[in-house]
Amino acid sequence: MAQLISVVLVLGLAFLAFSPICFCGKTTGGYLYPQFYDRSCPKAREIVNSIVAKAVAKEARMAASLLRLHFHDCFVKGCDASILLDSTGRIISEKGANPNRNSARGFEVIDEIKSALEEECPETVSCADILALSARDSTVLTGGPSWEVPLGRRDSRSASLSGSNNNIPAPNNTFQTILTKFMLQGLNVVDLVALSGSHTIGNARCTSFRQRLYNQSGNGKPDFSLQQSFAAQLRNRCPRSGGDQNLFFLDFVSPTKFDNSYFKNILASKGLLSSDQVLLTKNEASMELVKKYAECNELFFEQFSKSMVKMGNISPLTGFRGEIRKSCRKINS
Ligand code: HEM
Ligand SMILES: *[C@@H]1O[C@H](CO)[C@@H](O)[C@H](O)[C@H]1NC(C)=O
Ligand SMILES: *[C@@H]1O[C@H](CO)[C@@H](O)[C@H](O)[C@H]1NC(C)=O
Repeated sequence: MAQLISVVLVLGLAFLAFSPICFCGKTTGGYLYPQFYDRSCPKAREIVNSIVAKAVAKEARMAASLLRLHFHDCFVKGCDASILLDSTGRIISEKGANPNRNSARGFEVIDEIKSALEEECPETVSCADILALSARDSTVLTGGPSWEVPLGRRDSRSASLSGSNNNIPAPNNTFQTILTKFMLQGLNVVDLVALSGSHTIGNARCTSFRQRLYNQSGNGKPDFSLQQSFAAQLRNRCPRSGGDQNLFFLDFVSPTKFDNSYFKNILASKGLLSSDQVLLTKNEASMELVKKYAECNELFFEQFSKSMVKMGNISPLTGFRGEIRKSCRKINS
């Protein structure tokens, strides 16, 4: 099965590489611009920011959860708020997909932002733009860099469960599979390493890394690229069976601060997920980038901002495509 997926991915990549028209509009996002709501809803950015700030003050982890929602949105049919749709009628929600089930969170905060915006300027600000702005605000609120968010995305009228299962990398994917999944979105190894730096905040469940602790390659042995005493600590609260939902900090050094300690942890063989550690151990280019960002926070911040804009530009719906949802959870009737 894993082999079949790899073959499909490689074929897809080859297709992209040899198809001259394929990237048009896919990664340029030339339709989006930061001033999009300046006339139609001048308070939009302020309203988003104040509600995100309130939510993060109440629970620091919410910043991480909102940042991740934008990622999981953009990797499935582009940044179109498809992840926010609940199952109703013909729609099968992405919320039940493997990467999201028991894991994706923050939907109530998005609802609160949407209803405040509907009050201020009805049917104007898209849910996809709310996700992009919330991701930026969450980064800034936790001490990370800021950037101007291009706006003007519209919302999809469908979701893709299979897209969510197939396009979003899994924590036990190989380096090559992860990179391929990024390249299928028009992102490269620099974007991969910089954006993985998001794991400087937030949590992961035991089930997301247990395999590393006990049976990394199906030979009954742990992942030896994990520092031994750190691994022993993790086994304490992540037993062979049970405790699936137990939470661990992705960056145990500064779990709620957006900084480059994520990269320093990886250099110390203390990256929590296999997908974190392989950035150092499986590829020369990404190894160099991990070292660079561990050494220089400023370079990390600069690249993170650029890569977030790039990710936010994946296949937006613009013009007359899509719609501005009234509720982020359901399409307009
Ligand atoms: C490179 C491939 C990636 C993989 C394999 C991956 C995988 C994961 C996994 C397994 C978790 C923990 C989920 C759980 O156990 O509930 C997680 C959490 C998180 N991911 Fe990623 N991720 C990747 C890239 C990214 C990117 C590109 C971003 C953002 C731009 C991101 C942002 C986050 C954040 C902020 C959290 C913490 C969420 C929270 O605490 O609610 N990740 N990721
Ligand atoms: C990765 O984890 C999934 C879900 O736990 C599992 O089904 C799959 O076999 C694992 N893949 C590999 C290559 O170990
Ligand atoms: C490790 O995983 C492999 C394949 O997934 C399985 O056949 C084997 O029984 C497991 N070994 C242990 C000790 O859990």
